[in-house]
Amino acid sequence: MRSVTSHVISKESPKNIIKEYPRSGLCHLPTPLEAMPNLSRKLGGVNLFIKRDDQTGLAFGGNKSRKLDFIMADVLEQKADSVVTWGGMQSNWCRQTAAAARKLGLKPVLILFKRAKLPTECDGNLLLDSILGAEIKTIELEEGKSFMEIHAVEEILKTVVEEERRAGNNPYIAPIGGSFQEGSMRKPLGAICYVDAISELVKQAEAEDVRIDYLVHATGSGSTQAGLIVGAKLFYPQVKIVGISVCEDLKTITRFVNTIVHRTFEEFGLNTDLDEADICIFEEYLGGGYGILNHETAQALRLVAETEGILLDPVYTGKAMVGLVDLIGKGYFKKGANIVFLHSGGTPALFPYREGIMNYLNDGNRHQ
Ligand SMILES: Cc1ncc(COP(=O)(O)O)c(C=O)c1O
Repeated sequence: MRSVTSHVISKESPKNIIKEYPRSGLCHLPTPLEAMPNLSRKLGGVNLFIKRDDQTGLAFGGNKSRKLDFIMADVLEQKADSVVTWGGMQSNWCRQTAAAARKLGLKPVLILFKRAKLPTECDGNLLLDSILGAEIKTIELEEGKSFMEIHAVEEILKTVVEEERRAGNNPYIAPIGGSFQEGSMRKPLGAICYVDAISELVKQAEAEDVRIDYLVHATGSGSTQAGLIVGAKLFYPQVKIVGISVCEDLKTITRFVNTIVHRTFEEFGLNTDLDEADICIFEEYLGGGYGILNHETAQALRLVAETEGILLDPVYTGKAMVGLVDLIGKGYFKKGANIVFLHSGGTPALFPYREGIMNYLNDGNRHQ
């Protein structure tokens, strides 16, 4: 086990863990916890709440801003002056990283992978990246290839980093999604921020006198879920964290989350305290795969918009909502359960998906 002397904590004082990590103060916290009475009534049998992590700030917000609150402090500590990262053409992570870099006077460099069948026009996140003046390198991705793990992007990353160094910059390589501990990120900061989010949520639940039974959210590169799981273990063991996979098959995403959970406990100097059932992920709502819109997702966007006036996104939270609605219908949650849905952002992607959304909604209307 790596030395963790600076962060060794006792189980009696878990609330002090997070305070030891520097933050950049870029994120708007705490995010609101709101009841969704209309949606609860419509679906029946459970009480639904929504944690508004779409309101974290940084160019339309999202879960990545929580991660960047910690990661950008690391960037500053390492005295970097440019931030290099990668993602898909409509990456929320890249957009929020670009905004965070700009806020701190640093240069954002984005490597964006073009995938067949996904929107590539200069709209949504890509438009925002361009307005933010990020340096953008576009790469065609071969069919069936993934860019989730750093070894898959090593070659292009090396070229970009060398370019940055030749230009006299000191680049920080931020891992995709702020998730794996790789590149220049030496601590699992993308999960640590969600350990903190649980302690924030506990305070809100206590203030509202609500006992939260489940937290349901979209899981992509795994660190949001890993942080939530560790946070629940430390601060609120009665809550079950339920991830809806929107990118990876069950085996792959479970491996991602498991790795990051272990690294987070290790970082805190604690033995991993995990039962198999703690990593709870559903892959059934992936539909045609990452970023592929389907009828159910378009209907879920409309359902939440019509009942609560809240906009979800077509790639992450829309699919997670499909999972939540279906699991409620199947009686997965105990009767009368209090369920928090994490709105992790992503709404700029509504615009490049406009055509598909409207086609599915109009198609749905015809069948009503
Ligand atoms: C809007 C949104 N929700 C959820 C996620 C998933 O978060 P994670 O990658 O930590 O699993 C992402 C990641 O890109 C996202 O952009």
